[in-house]
Amino acid sequence: MSKKILFTRIYPKIAQTQLQEAGFKVTLRETDTPFDHKELIEKSKEHDAILCTLTDKIDDTFLNECSHMDIISQFAVGYDNINVEKATELGIPIGHTPEALNEATADIAFGLLLATSRKMFHQHKKIIHGKWGSFTPTGDLGIEIKNKTLGIFGLGRIGMEMAKLCKAAYNMNVIYHNRSRNKHAEKTLDATYVPFEELLTQSDVISLHCNLNEGTREIFNKDAFQKMKSRAIFINTARGPVHNESDLINALQTGEIWGAGLDVTNPEPMNPNNELLQMPNVCVLPHIGSGTEETRDEMARMAANNIIEFYKNGTVPNVVNPEAIMNKTTTLK
Ligand code: GLV
Ligand code: GLV
Repeated sequence: MSKKILFTRIYPKIAQTQLQEAGFKVTLRETDTPFDHKELIEKSKEHDAILCTLTDKIDDTFLNECSHMDIISQFAVGYDNINVEKATELGIPIGHTPEALNEATADIAFGLLLATSRKMFHQHKKIIHGKWGSFTPTGDLGIEIKNKTLGIFGLGRIGMEMAKLCKAAYNMNVIYHNRSRNKHAEKTLDATYVPFEELLTQSDVISLHCNLNEGTREIFNKDAFQKMKSRAIFINTARGPVHNESDLINALQTGEIWGAGLDVTNPEPMNPNNELLQMPNVCVLPHIGSGTEETRDEMARMAANNIIEFYKNGTVPNVVNPEAIMNKTTTLK
């Protein structure tokens, strides 16, 4: 009997095509909204595997009720919506989609940096609200980033791309803080490892490219913002909960830092009345880092392939928890 795969959202067509060609039965989602949690669990009970994403809570409750799942295939590189430890215990491998979105996400980080440094969103809003007065020699000026110091928090694949862009375009000096040293970056980008404290005090721009975990949750808080330069720009395209949002608002209001560009907020979605949206030195986007046609297609291809390979060969090409596979062997019947 062919295995049944539940799609929790509308994904690029290629995911469906690949799975159907490989003999799977795919249940598509008709509307582009997340399932509520109960519905997600009920539907998942009728399926062997799911193709899910950040908006699906794969928590303890889900995993207890759906411990029969063969594989959970996540359409994203980040997987903080999934209780990985529990899934591993249950022998459920989790696939994800790294690499595919490195460049698209770095583009958004770089774009936000430029947009923030020149107050672009604010200027755009001024026009919409009929406030394009005359050319003003000293009003609403931005700041330049050329030759300044870029501090990367979490220098992995996406951080590397961001550093490359900033170096090529603005000859920025790259420093970074990571759990482990990135020798490759040190060699190819002349990046310098610094302790967290130094990253805060030396950077003109801090760009976040880390995972969300208990070590990074709200690490950018009051304490951290106070140590940053008053002319610093804070960029977060990683995960909203890496910063404490009221501390960020406060840091901007009191001039502890100069500006912020966010593609992720804490929480998401951002409330439209959030003070950040009124600030001239802040640019906010609704979590679109990987949002290009090319990248989303590639992520869909990878997410489908993780399922196909698992049933075919017992391996998941891009797996979060390889230990889980040891605990379970399933074949496509
Ligand atoms: C997007 O945020 C992702 O993790 O892929
Ligand atoms: C600005 O538009 C200038 O011409 O300097």
